[in-house]
Order: sequence, then C-alpha cells, then structure tokens
Amino acid sequence: MKIFLDTSEVDVISKHCESGLIDGVTTNPTLMMQAGRDPIDVIKDISALFPDDSSISAEVVADTAEEMISQAKQYYSISSNITIKVPCTEEGLKACKFLSDKDIPVNVTLIFSTTQAILCAKAGAKYVSPFIGRCEDNGLSGIGLIESIRTIYDRSNIGHPPEILAASIRTTDHVTNAFIAGTDIVTLPPSILKEMYKHALTDQGIDQFDKDWKLVNHK
Ligand code: E4P
Repeated sequence: MKIFLDTSEVDVISKHCESGLIDGVTTNPTLMMQAGRDPIDVIKDISALFPDDSSISAEVVADTAEEMISQAKQYYSISSNITIKVPCTEEGLKACKFLSDKDIPVNVTLIFSTTQAILCAKAGAKYVSPFIGRCEDNGLSGIGLIESIRTIYDRSNIGHPPEILAASIRTTDHVTNAFIAGTDIVTLPPSILKEMYKHALTDQGIDQFDKDWKLVNHK
C-alpha cells in the first residue's frame, strides 16, 4: 500500500515528506507548467528528497519513441529513483519496452482501458496509471477499470506485472475504492492527502479531551 503525491511543488512535497508516509511523486506537463520552473531542476529537487528505492515520475513529451528515449535518458541520469512516464501510445509503448529492457522503470500514463493495461504489461512497464477522475468525467467507471486490470494481472502468467498506480484522484472515496479494487498505489493531489487525515468526530473528541484535561488535578 503506497501513497504518492501528484504535484510538482517542491516545497509542498518537502513538507509532506516530514510525515514519512509518502513513497513517491508523480508529475506531468500540466503540473510542471503550474510550477513555472525548468522541469529538469524540479525533478532534481524532488528526487533529492527521496531515497533511492522510491519513485519520482518524470514525464517525457515527444511524438516518437526515439525522442522519448532521449528525454528519458536525461531524466534517468539525475538519479536511480527516477521513473520515466510515457503516454499509452504505440510510440510510448515502444519507448517503454526499450527502457524496461534496460532496467529503467517506466510508468505508462493516461490509461483508460484494460487492453491498454495488457499492452503495458507486455511492454515491461513497472507502473500503469489508470485515470479515475477523467474516466468518471467521461461516463466510464475508473474504479471498475482498476478492478478489471487487477483481475487480469492476477490471472496472467507474467512474473512481475506492472504495479497499478491509481491517478486522477479527486476525492477521498476514490482513494478508499481504488484500494478496495486492488490498486497498489494511489497518487494524490496534496489537498486530498490533507483530507485523509481529517474526521469531524476526531476534532470533536480532541476538543472534549482538551476541556477535560484542563479539569484534571495536576500535581
Ligand atoms: C497522474 O500521474 C496524473 O499526473 C494526474 O493524476 C492527473 O490528474 P487530473 O486528471 O486530475 O489532471
């Protein structure tokens, strides 16, 4: 059961890392645009916050596998905790196979169907990222997709199927339901992670305990 943060904001990641509960980070071109800095510098800064066995996804943006591989090599030279994120296209999966054969971990992103997830497994992907929120935006069941991918991978004869990395998470219910459906990892916007800590009854209980504690006769 792993939790990744889905952001390119280094300060926010650094703050959440203090909890010791964060196992990795995913970024994408939109998140990089929001961060407003050179993506290579952002990835260097994020990578430095995590141990070697974690996973920091850096997304390549190119039309051909060759260009994706060239960008991937630049990112992977930063640290062995970098995971290369490629889109689920023919060229993306070609790049995935090439990089995976060289033991460079790949996260295939923008997964919306089980057949895409099957091809990712064949291409040696370390992670597949089904997009729950965007599935639902388009009338598809994101949680159902995770459940189906889990079933297919568990029944396959592939020694090490990809880890399922539930992405495009918009609510805490997505987190719960993704794990029930068998995801290995969720990647969360920091706002959803913050919500996971909270419950009104916890706050109410703390208020009551604080009040009562003041009435305890301390010696
Ligand atoms: C995952 O790796 C993506 O960065 C992300 O989860 C996309 O989420 P969105 O659909 O909310 O943009």
